[in-house]
Amino acid sequence: MSTELQVVADEAATCVRCGLAETRTQVVFGVGDPHADLLFVGEGPGADEDRLGEPFVGRSGKLLDQLVLEEMGLTRERFYIANVVKCRPPDNRDPRPDEIEACNPWLEKQIALIDPKVVVTVGNFATRTLLSTKEGITKVRGRAYPFGAAVLIPTFHPAAILRGGAQQMAQMRADLVRAKQALAGAPGDAPAEPAPAVAPAHEADDARLFE
Ligand code: URA
Repeated sequence: MSTELQVVADEAATCVRCGLAETRTQVVFGVGDPHADLLFVGEGPGADEDRLGEPFVGRSGKLLDQLVLEEMGLTRERFYIANVVKCRPPDNRDPRPDEIEACNPWLEKQIALIDPKVVVTVGNFATRTLLSTKEGITKVRGRAYPFGAAVLIPTFHPAAILRGGAQQMAQMRADLVRAKQALAGAPGDAPAEPAPAVAPAHEADDARLFE
């Protein structure tokens, strides 16, 4: 980690700005190249991340790593990865608005110090927080948004894909290709998205992930 980012991470390690401090094992600040052009922002640590102190190390993370490697040719040392909330919400519940707000200064400092060219928001919480929108991921994904001097590309959370979204999988791959093009400075036009072979039967069960 760069010295400055490490200083911020050390400060964050003892954070008590919200109630999640009481139930966490440790603060999961973020990992990767502190000078990366590419930053992924997810929702918050789950049980595996809380135990190991690193974002996206469970099933969702493995899928994210696989898709980023397949579509962008990048492994973890080449980008930075963090979450909107740095501490695990108990029982895998959603992070609450007050928790997201309390944690936001850490994310803002991370973004300022890393100074990425491309920010990929993974799922509804990161997308809504960084785009300051109430719209769901299904509506806003599919294009790049200006984000300061960078561009922001929203995509699905891999947990949504793991729950059976064939169409979402294809769309997430297309989003990652869009991020790769943005990194290369290419215009952010959407690549063609193949139609899903079969619509996932239980998609409606998971409205929170797709809405
Ligand atoms: N899901 C997230 O959004 N972040 C993690 O770190 C792990 C799972």
